[in-house]
Amino acid sequence: MSVNQEIRKVTTHRLTEMKLRGEKISMLTSYDFSMAKLVDEAGIDVILVGDSASNVMAGNQTTLPITLEQMIYHGKSVVNAVQRALVVVDLPFGTYQGNSRKALKSAIRIMKETAADSVKLEGGSEVIDSVERILSAGIPVMGHLGLMPQSINKFGTYSVRAREEAEAEKLVSDARLLEEAGCFALVLEKIPATLGEKVAALLQIPVIGIGAGSGVDGQVLVIHDMLGITQQFSPRFLRRYHNLAAEIKGAVDHYINDVKSGDFPNKKEQY
Ligand code: KIV
Repeated sequence: MSVNQEIRKVTTHRLTEMKLRGEKISMLTSYDFSMAKLVDEAGIDVILVGDSASNVMAGNQTTLPITLEQMIYHGKSVVNAVQRALVVVDLPFGTYQGNSRKALKSAIRIMKETAADSVKLEGGSEVIDSVERILSAGIPVMGHLGLMPQSINKFGTYSVRAREEAEAEKLVSDARLLEEAGCFALVLEKIPATLGEKVAALLQIPVIGIGAGSGVDGQVLVIHDMLGITQQFSPRFLRRYHNLAAEIKGAVDHYINDVKSGDFPNKKEQY
């Protein structure tokens, strides 16, 4: 981008406009400065500082252990890098459920200490008090329904959600509730494509899918998965755009050989 070209920041309002004109929204996760800078410069619309950091950055089995302080650390690192994308930071498990005052406190800490643009949280009617209280402070909220990794211990599996009619009906009513409360967008994770399309058509706010089919208003993936850094995780919805694991291992292998053989550093690489 030339110095004369002004960077137009993506806002929640611009995302609504994109939905209105049928322009799909691109969203990826990032958790650190260097990756977020590359992702932003490539032109992504939304960067999610997901609590998937618990898995891909810290190596935990679930998203439950990550703390508010750790999310703030990741959020601030990402915001430091981003000029254009809208930045959303996940409220971690235990910081908003069952206590709307605590939820507001957590959201305010994220907004003050990271300077992100918005927060995301999982759930519908169960967390609507928290959603409303956060929104009342002028903090934009992105909802998240379908597979909700923070509730893994309730469901016991990461399989496709809302295949049964009752669960699909609850998802639709929760989606409406979140929109009426004032959420600016909604993530739908791992649900049938027909249901994703139905919800996107019912709502005015943008619906971003991860494993929710092509009929939604945008797509989100975890950056480590789509770049092929993580290797064990291969759900059907994941398209890998690179095999970075192989490239990184190849480069490290090359470096080790050069060090061991004395090839590195050469004359030009020393003082
Ligand atoms: O934490 C995360 O990365 C997410 C996405 C899977 C949507 O919530």
